[in-house]
Amino acid sequence: MHGYTKKMKPKIIVIGSSNTDMVVKVPHIPAPGETIMGTDFLTIPGGKGANQAVAAARAGADVTFIACVSDDSFGKQALENYRKDGIDASCIKVQPGTHSGIALINVAEDGENSISVAPGANSWLFPEDIYGFEGAFDGAKVVLAQLEIPMETVEAAAEVAHAKGIPFILNPAPGAAIPESLLSKVTIITPNETEAAIITSRKNFSEKDIPQMAGEIFENGGTTVLLTLGSKGVYLKTFDFEGLIPGYKVKAVDTTAAGDVFNGALSAALASGIELNDAVDFAQRAAAISVTRMGAQPSAPHFDEIQQYNF
Ligand code: ATP
Ligand code: RIB
Repeated sequence: MHGYTKKMKPKIIVIGSSNTDMVVKVPHIPAPGETIMGTDFLTIPGGKGANQAVAAARAGADVTFIACVSDDSFGKQALENYRKDGIDASCIKVQPGTHSGIALINVAEDGENSISVAPGANSWLFPEDIYGFEGAFDGAKVVLAQLEIPMETVEAAAEVAHAKGIPFILNPAPGAAIPESLLSKVTIITPNETEAAIITSRKNFSEKDIPQMAGEIFENGGTTVLLTLGSKGVYLKTFDFEGLIPGYKVKAVDTTAAGDVFNGALSAALASGIELNDAVDFAQRAAAISVTRMGAQPSAPHFDEIQQYNF
């Protein structure tokens, strides 16, 4: 299927956050001021950067992850996990004197979540670190980043990718305004609806605004837009195509990291050289599988499962 095979192992660089997720299962997401009793408590490897690196590695890519963790037990455990997934962790900086990234997550019975992040060491990944790891970009077919690290660091990554002629994929999460200098270096941008509304300076939006939002982001940087719409799929806007690509139907258990699995698998598939439509299909398969399982990194599927899963 798709022309992307397990043997290809295309090289990609992922730059971003590494967190440990402290997850409580709750009947519903608490309202402001509300205290509710949860059920299970789980400690799970997470962080948007790390989730995308793990998802890409399991989806068949040869991944180098550029990140920053502390020398605490969370950071040590994270490094061990990345190595177990076959990720090159030699560009992960260890920063003493702070804590590794932590996310507090509520997961409700319908699979929805709310997340607060204490970035800790993630805030210590600086542009000079990226320039220091420039040599690692050689031979990469895709560079992928998100926004849980400083914006200047993301800009440095885009600059290095741009200078080396490597496609740069930006998952603009968590939502933030994107400087034009950055957007002009992004090859593909993958906001969800809320992030697209922030980028296009909208306070309110509805489903009917989606084509308009995708159009505005596209016109701003000439960037291919993949606007992710949860269970509905992806709205794609390129130079020669615009429209909805429906997602796969599954029973959602936990949607945490659906976007991360989508981005990791998309980057792996695109790095293999296959067509955008086929890469989006591969990524939607991977993301749909991930929502049927609890947790961020544990939910990311492997190459064979993505290809063979019976929806
Ligand atoms: P999250 O913040 O939950 O990690 P996100 O908001 O960044 O995700 P979404 O648009 O929710 O991103 O999801 C990304 C992709 O994952 C979707 O385009 C779709 O392919 C897949 N997906 C997400 N939720 C579901 C679902 N309930 N059923 C099937 N596929 C889903
Ligand atoms: O996208 C999901 C991730 O967001 C979680 O793993 C959490 O760590 C936060 O970074």
